[in-house]
Amino acid sequence: MSEKLIEVVDDAGIVRLTINRPKALNALNSAVIGELERVLVELEGRDDLRAVLITGAGEKAFVAGADIAEMRDKTPEQARDFARQALATFKRLETLPVPTVALVNGFCLGGGCELALACDWAVASDNAVFGQPEVQLGVIPGFGGTQRLPRRVGPAMALDLCTTGRKIDAAEALRIGLVNGVMAQGELEAHAEELTKQLGGNGPQAMRAAKQAIHDGMDQDLDSALALENALFAFCFAGEEQTEGMNAFVEKRKPNF
Ligand code: CAA
Repeated sequence: MSEKLIEVVDDAGIVRLTINRPKALNALNSAVIGELERVLVELEGRDDLRAVLITGAGEKAFVAGADIAEMRDKTPEQARDFARQALATFKRLETLPVPTVALVNGFCLGGGCELALACDWAVASDNAVFGQPEVQLGVIPGFGGTQRLPRRVGPAMALDLCTTGRKIDAAEALRIGLVNGVMAQGELEAHAEELTKQLGGNGPQAMRAAKQAIHDGMDQDLDSALALENALFAFCFAGEEQTEGMNAFVEKRKPNF
């Protein structure tokens, strides 16, 4: 792997991002966050983008948190600005119009857990360890954890994790809904390839519409959200994808999106 802080591999619009700072367990310093932001801005402008998978370099960690050594001497103002940079970057990730998946391949702590939470869903290797241990450092999660964690796993579990700082294994992460699936570490790559095939075979505009319906709908009352779904469903029939998808079914062939 090259020395880039974020490795980008593009397989026909399914883009794999690897946080590449394995000696520091891929801890997020300003340089990594800045590079992630730059890459995401580039991806935002791509009409051919179909999905984004994000993982950490090496066998040990997804991301072990924000960089503690870099944060240690920060003033309150510097800490606020550092966190704002990460919040804005994670927002970019969250609002990419395509499905985003965290492939959690080891330690997923603090800012790492917050990065996974900014993705649409996560899958983990069975050696993954999750937690929001910031209170053990005398601070709170600063990259969105106090807000996205309760929305993913419920407020009681989020309060448990954010106030005890305890670490949980992949099985517990699965049980509480923090991840969608757990597999042996050696199977994570095969799963990523399977996901690439699956997402690559679907209608790209339809996947975008599904994400928009779920993300935007979650912030609305049910009736408004159902009206949004209805509008997006109708919108799907205005493009070529629906014609190709349904013709392919009737003609007993694979669609070519
Ligand atoms: N920041 C900076 N460096 C880190 C780091 C972090 N979050 N996590 C690990 N590293 C570095 C270690 O300092 C060490 O560097 P050296 O080899 O130069 O000493 C290297 O990565 C390997 O780590 P360890 O030797 O500690 O590995 P280990 O296997 O013994 O322990 C670990 C692994 C349990 C993950 C441990 O490294 C650890 O507890 N890391 C910190 C986890 C944490 O507290 N994360 C939250 C950070 S705060 C945050 O994220 C705030 C926020 O919301 C914005």
